[in-house]
Amino acid sequence: MINITLIFITLTLISNAQDLPDVKIYIESRCPDTAAMMRGISNATIDSLDQLANVEFIPSGKLNSNSYEANTYITNCQHSEEECYGNMILACGLQLQKDQVSSTKFVRCFFKEAYKQNFQEQIDKCLENTQQKLLVKACANGPQGIELLYANRLRTPNLGYVPSIAINGQMQKLKEDFGKVLCSLSDAQAICKDIKWV
Ligand SMILES: *[C@@H]1O[C@H](CO)[C@@H](O)[C@H](O)[C@H]1NC(C)=O
Repeated sequence: MINITLIFITLTLISNAQDLPDVKIYIESRCPDTAAMMRGISNATIDSLDQLANVEFIPSGKLNSNSYEANTYITNCQHSEEECYGNMILACGLQLQKDQVSSTKFVRCFFKEAYKQNFQEQIDKCLENTQQKLLVKACANGPQGIELLYANRLRTPNLGYVPSIAINGQMQKLKEDFGKVLCSLSDAQAICKDIKWV
């Protein structure tokens, strides 16, 4: 009986995880609209995230079409070459996060810090420990960072606006706390009815 109950609970958990919407959020490290949206993410969103969606952040964004040349994904970013480096810091930092909650906290922290050259503030304040800080720097200054940036470039569709959110592949502009957007989906009403958006 206990075994059957456990199997039932396990299956229920698995099917819930599979039913959650697949969410991708497209961001750019030096984008004012991305920063505003990320700074506006409430703790309520972070606290209810695992019930709402499977979220992934994709730092890459738009190419700077004025300077477009083939294979320039390392330098060709909408808000300057430095933005590409910041996207690498984000991608490298995200690699180290253990789940979507810590990923969201990391990205929110990144955009809360004032921009400094080399993104040193973000590395210092948004990563957990010395080892992580060293790993992110090494990643962003080496081939791994370039590989991650390239992979993100390939996964980024043509964007009309940054930040954008894709919910089960449906793209839309993202101008507010994405938890609120997810709570506007009809399937989320039961989960969202008690959330206080402070
Ligand atoms: C949100 O949580 C952080 C800690 O993760 C805390 O420092 C901050 O004060 C909280 N914000 C609000 C509005 O409760």
